Amino acid sequence: MEDSRIAAPIGVNLDRFINAKEQHFSYATGELSQLLRDIALAGKVVNREINKAGLINIAGAIGTQNIQGEDQQKLDVLSNIRFIRALTKGGEVCAIISEEDEKVIETGSDSAKYIVAIDPLDGSSNIDVNVSIGTIFSIYRRLSVVNSPITNEDVLQKGTEQIAAGYILYGSSTMLVYTTGNGVNGFTYEPSLGEYFLSHHNMKLPNEGKIYSINEGSYNSFEQPVKEYINYCREHKYSGRYIGSLVADFHRNLLKGGIYIYPKTTTSPNGKLRLMYECNCLAFIAEQAGGIATDGVHRIMEIQPKELHQRTPFFVGSKSMVEKAKSYY
Ligand code: AHG
Ligand code: MN
Ligand code: MN
Repeated sequence: MEDSRIAAPIGVNLDRFINAKEQHFSYATGELSQLLRDIALAGKVVNREINKAGLINIAGAIGTQNIQGEDQQKLDVLSNIRFIRALTKGGEVCAIISEEDEKVIETGSDSAKYIVAIDPLDGSSNIDVNVSIGTIFSIYRRLSVVNSPITNEDVLQKGTEQIAAGYILYGSSTMLVYTTGNGVNGFTYEPSLGEYFLSHHNMKLPNEGKIYSINEGSYNSFEQPVKEYINYCREHKYSGRYIGSLVADFHRNLLKGGIYIYPKTTTSPNGKLRLMYECNCLAFIAEQAGGIATDGVHRIMEIQPKELHQRTPFFVGSKSMVEKAKSYY
């Protein structure tokens, strides 16, 4: 009976895990724990909406563009509303940087200590075709004193200053993966219980892998070092895998070993991905799991952001693969 599926233990749920780890935060506070719980809860709500997208008329474009000139999908806008509401009502966050908003969102919680950068819905082009999408977030500590105006220094912090980062992957199952700087842990959402459970303890990126992920359709517009690295991957019979949702491509490579590249192209001289709510977060997770992240030359987390929606070329994944790609520069 003990061995039967019905008697199998369900493991540690996210709340219990966050509480147990609280003392490991560099400055233990219940507020950061609550903030992580708020994000996890908003992720459940977005997950519910994504699961029903085809039925409740929330797939498709909304007819507007975001600040970056990209067509907004209904789910981009809905996810943005859900996360901003959760972060605002939660009371732990004083400012939010979102892909979908041109300016910093001040939440009105003037005594709050944290700042969140978020890509509420990553992989927009995959919404309508039922392919994995995600949410990416970074958490920073506010530098200015509480109850004073938010400063540029507060919002434009380097990735090295992140105190936590994570993503939610809405895939064949929904997962929350996060780090607070003490390794990376992954939780799988159990919809019938409405909870996330620890499923991937202390995740480690294999040092070497055989998967390279890049939009090879743009090959002709890549710079020479990237072309040479792709040729190396082809010659060595690496597998090309490209979902087109950064979170999903990153997650697969985290589990299996691999490299994800979004380089500069002739039309996007700084690449496409955004430093503050896409690259820094995944760079932090990659490093915590034993991998690396670079723009080809510099460590991603050491780049000083100058603007909220700044873009950067991005190479992330298994250490020896990213180093090999870097060696062509
Ligand atoms: P978003 O949906 O948040 O705008 O991000 C889309 C990004 C990323 O998820 C993905 O890796 C990349 O765009 C794909 O771009 P290409 O279609 O140019 O390959
Ligand atoms: Mn994105
Ligand atoms: Mn997005």
